[in-house]
Amino acid sequence: MITRYKSIFLLLIAALLVSGCANKQPPVNEDEVLRSKIAQLVQAERNNFTAQQWAEYPLGSILSGGGSRPADDSASGWRLMVENYQKSTSVPVIYGIDAVHGHNNLLGATIFPHNIGLGAANDEDLMRRIGIATGKEVSATGVHWNFAPTLAVVQDIRWGRTYESYSENPQIVSALGSAYIQGLQSVGIAATAKHFLADGATVFGTGSGSYLLDQGDAQLDEAEIRRVHLYPYLAAIREADVLTVMVSFSSINGDKMHASKYWLTDVLKGELGFKGLVISDWEAIHQLPGSLYQQIVLSINAGVDMLMEPFLWKESVDAMVRAVKNGDISKQRIEDAYQRVMYVKEKLGLLDGSFEVYDESVIHSQEHQELAREAVSKSLVLLKNNGVLPLKKTAKILLIGPGADNAGLASGGWTFSWQGESTGNQLPQATTLKQAFESVAGVNGGMITTDVTKINEVDVVVLALAENPYAEGVGDANDLSLNGSLMNSANKEAIELAKLSKKPVVTILTAGRPRLIDEELKDWDAFVMAWLYGSEANGITDVLYGDVNFTGKLPFSCPKTSETGNISTENPNRDDSNIQFEFGFGLKYE
Ligand code: GLC
Repeated sequence: MITRYKSIFLLLIAALLVSGCANKQPPVNEDEVLRSKIAQLVQAERNNFTAQQWAEYPLGSILSGGGSRPADDSASGWRLMVENYQKSTSVPVIYGIDAVHGHNNLLGATIFPHNIGLGAANDEDLMRRIGIATGKEVSATGVHWNFAPTLAVVQDIRWGRTYESYSENPQIVSALGSAYIQGLQSVGIAATAKHFLADGATVFGTGSGSYLLDQGDAQLDEAEIRRVHLYPYLAAIREADVLTVMVSFSSINGDKMHASKYWLTDVLKGELGFKGLVISDWEAIHQLPGSLYQQIVLSINAGVDMLMEPFLWKESVDAMVRAVKNGDISKQRIEDAYQRVMYVKEKLGLLDGSFEVYDESVIHSQEHQELAREAVSKSLVLLKNNGVLPLKKTAKILLIGPGADNAGLASGGWTFSWQGESTGNQLPQATTLKQAFESVAGVNGGMITTDVTKINEVDVVVLALAENPYAEGVGDANDLSLNGSLMNSANKEAIELAKLSKKPVVTILTAGRPRLIDEELKDWDAFVMAWLYGSEANGITDVLYGDVNFTGKLPFSCPKTSETGNISTENPNRDDSNIQFEFGFGLKYE
């Protein structure tokens, strides 16, 4: 592998020499070669880096942070932005983005259910097809690298990133994560297994800064870490050949992952044989002790190959050059990291110009809408039904609650913006729950209304409850009740209205994790967990009207109280008295 890229690099140096001579610049020397390689190990955010700066800082990668998009947010606008970076440098950039449930930064993209719903579906073939569809929509915008899937095996659902996890069960996470990676990379987009390691095991109260769990500390012995949290990485690396791994902000027993040579080099690269590149998380090395120089020395020597430094990319390149000159980072470590970056770029066809850009007609195509609709149907979990479901298509329905007509709440965080949208204004492509009901009732003589004054005229009330959107630590919760952390304020009134209606009530909960429903469940005739289902709500009505049966099963244990630190089936000290619905539970139409 080393010799392979040395020849490519020598060709590029020759090109620089020729251009240098032609432009009467001094010949390229060893220091400049080293500095060019070091620049390949740094990633900047698009808002803080212009193509013109490449001449002095030929960075290896650019990213779009959550919600970061070109002024022209069309597919061609995205492609033009990436091309502008490409044509200004001799070593092609690799452009990364979080497309964690479809190409969610892109206006008009297909928004698939977040991973928690896909864990309920637990369908590897479906997951692979979603990886392919997502990869095509990402490729259509000229982007090369997707920071997905999350392989967290979440154990405490109070964590704000629970919905990015498939399940509390490592086998489900492993199977679905690998299927997604295979799908995504089969259409030429680099996947990212993240966040290495044990991001989903942090203990409540150990979170970083104001966070309760996010970026906190996993307090487990190595056997448990390997059995539950390392497990999904084995298949991701050995079967799906994942090209990149992102390091977790969190720590294990007080040791920050970004400085852990044992886990990043000895285990990930040595024992598991990972050949791709390891990238740090967003300024995550700044949580390490010391100055930026010392943080860079610690993380690079631990095994980080590329620094996600959205703002301090210049300082990072300069500090790394100094560290090599000072002997604090060896040239061999730089060479290894550089070879890994070039390995990924070569696998993507960036070095020989064979990277394939799909036609923008794939974006929110009929095929992708139908795929997302299938995923929504398979993600639903029926937790109670006294016979009110399936609904008759001729039924008169009063639809109430914040989830009734709001694609923003249906999609959750990482949708158009980092923290998600509280309305559907930026999701014109979406079909809302109300629209989905209307499309069925309208052609079957049914009636759908959101006018509560008609409550006495209807056959059934559909109560659409919802969480507000959130991402990462912002979503950390200490109260999982329906009036608790991050629940939409309109839920309470809707719950009361449904209760007083004396009508059959079908409750649909749109949330990024299980919530406490023990109090209210007795007033409901049916209860469906819809998770964060995204842009295709007709996948819900397909099932509610009985055209499709329920198949979803709970990917997480559902608690009776907010003390969810030990409810996972993976927890040897599980508190069985705190379980409302068991992991794996789900009803269907007989
Ligand atoms: C965030 C997340 C990570 C994401 C990265 C880039 O902080 O932790 O999952 O890929 O930054 O947006």
